[in-house]
Amino acid sequence: MDGNGRWAKERGLPRIAGHREGAESVRAVLKACVEFGVKYLTVYAFSTENWRRPQEEVDFLMELFSATIDRELDELMAEGVKLNFLGRLARFSPEIQAKMKKAADKTAENKRITVSVMLNYGGRAEIVDALRQMTNDKLANEQINEENISKYLYTCGIPDPDLLIRTANEMRVSNFLLWQIAYAEIYVTPVYWPDFRREQLKEAIEDYQKRVRKFGQTEEQIKNAG
Ligand code: FPP
Repeated sequence: MDGNGRWAKERGLPRIAGHREGAESVRAVLKACVEFGVKYLTVYAFSTENWRRPQEEVDFLMELFSATIDRELDELMAEGVKLNFLGRLARFSPEIQAKMKKAADKTAENKRITVSVMLNYGGRAEIVDALRQMTNDKLANEQINEENISKYLYTCGIPDPDLLIRTANEMRVSNFLLWQIAYAEIYVTPVYWPDFRREQLKEAIEDYQKRVRKFGQTEEQIKNAG
């Protein structure tokens, strides 16, 4: 969700104003996903590197995550949204951890859309955690395969993303879902995250629909397979 800071700067506002508006985009994009029939939405809200930001900004983001859960939980529940919080969550305050757990537990049976909020998340950290757990579980050599690695990631049970959207013209993967995006289509837009709403999502999906996904095969093979 890049470009919150730049969005604010262009308006002569503090960076936190960009994050506040960015939270409104999360709301709008989620609503549009429900409308368009998207079943999984995964948002990169806070990376393992984001702790290095000014303390004031980190504190604001923590408060924003916490307040957003409080404010939105009833509506998310009513809309059938299943919420996941994925990442190294132990680093968050006990209060925020409890709030995340409560929201995840409450929405666990919801089926309309699964929203995963990635927090203190890093793709490499996720792979390290998966390998540690596989070692703890004493998996045999032949059990080390792609299917099992996927199962040990935080995203266990969530299909690999079809579409990866990068806002604010960022041409980097930035340690996001490194394993899971192997075949994802990447869409880069100059739009800053706070301006990314229903229309911008629609454009991204329409662009995605024009792509031919080959998964290593030729275009002819894909077409013949129908
Ligand atoms: C990146 O833009 C954005 C973040 C690190 C924070 C994202 C958080 C939100 C959008 C808040 C709402 C989220 C939820 C789940 C309620 P940036 O600050 O790096 O912007 P810049 O690249 O322009 O400086």
